[in-house]
Amino acid sequence: MEDSIEVMLQERNSKLLYHYRNNRVLTFAAGAIFSGLYGLWAMFCLPGLKVPFRLKLPFLPSTKVQTENVMKLLEGRQVWLADLGAGDGRLVFSASCAGFQCTGFEINPMLLAYSRGQAWWRGIPHPRATFVKQDFWKTDLSKYTNVVAFLAPAVMADLEEKLLKELPVDARVVVCCFPFPHWPHSCTIGSGLDQVWAYNVSSVRETRDTTSSFRAHP
Ligand SMILES: C[S@@+](CC[C@H](N)C(=O)[O-])C[C@H]1O[C@@H](n2cnc3c(N)ncnc32)[C@H](O)[C@@H]1O
Repeated sequence: MEDSIEVMLQERNSKLLYHYRNNRVLTFAAGAIFSGLYGLWAMFCLPGLKVPFRLKLPFLPSTKVQTENVMKLLEGRQVWLADLGAGDGRLVFSASCAGFQCTGFEINPMLLAYSRGQAWWRGIPHPRATFVKQDFWKTDLSKYTNVVAFLAPAVMADLEEKLLKELPVDARVVVCCFPFPHWPHSCTIGSGLDQVWAYNVSSVRETRDTTSSFRAHP
């Protein structure tokens, strides 16, 4: 009798051990899958490590309507266009089809590889759609007469300052979703997530000059 209880206890213990081991394997497997998926998401969606945390922006592709709205606000404009944070290159491709010579700035290497592959696949030649691995905050943008940006509210004030210093007087800036906090816009179209705003640098400078001279001589 004692023997059979011992055997039963031993069997029960070995079953528990089996379950425990199995659960541990399952937990490790789930952990590994989760970490792998997170790593993959981070590789595609998060910008490089060198960007300060305050200026870090994830990848969020613009919608078809948003892209169409950007192109409407760039109608009649020509030549050089910069997309600040090109993502998978969709805005650059639309603009290059409209005849612009586009540079897409992107710091995420996976997105960069993807957009370069797309450009090659679609047969878009180099000067019309160029993708560069460059932090646009550290790039001189003075050559661009057209700038497109789909970023985040937290960085729009910093971007205003940078663009106002660097862009030529005939430049136009089109931003998606999040307007500049201080610049007066020249026009806007769309609503909700698809809303885009256009700003003419000449008008922004004029407004700034008038406001500062008014402050100097009230
Ligand atoms: C909201 S997504 C917009 C993507 C694309 N322009 C579109 O409309 O679909 C912002 C992109 O900016 C990139 N980005 C963020 N900071 C950057 C920086 N300092 N220099 C270059 N690219 C940056 C991110 O990796 C991300 O792909």
